[in-house]
Amino acid sequence: MKVLITGTSRGIGRAIAEKFLQMGHEVVGLDLLPSPFAEKNYTHFVADVTGELPDVGDVEILINNAGVQDSGRDIDVNLKGAISVTEKYGLQPRIRSVVFIASASATTGAEFPAYAASKGGLVAYMKNVALRVSQWGATANSLSPGGVTTALNRHVMEDEKMWAQIMALTPLKKWATPEEIAEWTYFVAVINKSMTAQDILIDNGESSDAKFVW
Ligand SMILES: NC(=O)c1ccc[n+]([C@@H]2O[C@H](COP(=O)([O-])OP(=O)(O)OC[C@H]3O[C@@H](n4cnc5c(N)ncnc54)[C@H](O)[C@@H]3O)[C@@H](O)[C@H]2O)c1
Repeated sequence: MKVLITGTSRGIGRAIAEKFLQMGHEVVGLDLLPSPFAEKNYTHFVADVTGELPDVGDVEILINNAGVQDSGRDIDVNLKGAISVTEKYGLQPRIRSVVFIASASATTGAEFPAYAASKGGLVAYMKNVALRVSQWGATANSLSPGGVTTALNRHVMEDEKMWAQIMALTPLKKWATPEEIAEWTYFVAVINKSMTAQDILIDNGESSDAKFVW
């Protein structure tokens, strides 16, 4: 299938692109940074999701992954950028599935104010898209990871004291890898045919660690 993924140059987006390439799909990546791959099934556009988008026809799977955190542009990139990408490539009859990489902060409200708002908005927009693509038999869902071991979090992962505090609050005592989020994305986008308009929380139990005190 023809898959368009945003933010493929590193982190989760790169792992998602690798997974789809391994499974034999045609992947189109879009990122501010240069291409991470030299594969014949991969086409890369250096582009900003908030700017002019290249013309790419007949997208069958759309993965909105590009995102920033506490950047001063979180709403512009994470929410408005994903809307602009989806309206251009996702709302057409060839579409089979749309997946949004949201965040646990969409549910908890934790982390940075504009980041949480951008991801909460993204989950609401995903539900709007699910209703609109259902006319073509397509699904739309979001994945909401807690911590993932990417460069976005290097400053936290390399701070021993902070990492110990985070692990103390995380029941499974680990974060997800980008490769695991790629597996989830592949399942939701390709294997799944019946779940739509849903957000899946993948946070190693962090947000369910309710304290029981009596
Ligand atoms: N890492 C985590 O812990 C975590 C947790 C929950 C959700 N997420 C979300 O997952 C997604 C990917 O995060 P990551 O950790 O891989 O980040 P990352 O910073 O490692 O990679 C993000 C990629 O998106 C690209 N990008 C950023 N702004 C862009 C723009 N305006 N236009 C085009 N490309 C742009 C970057 O160049 C980069 O290649 C983000 O939406 C992030 O909010 C990450």
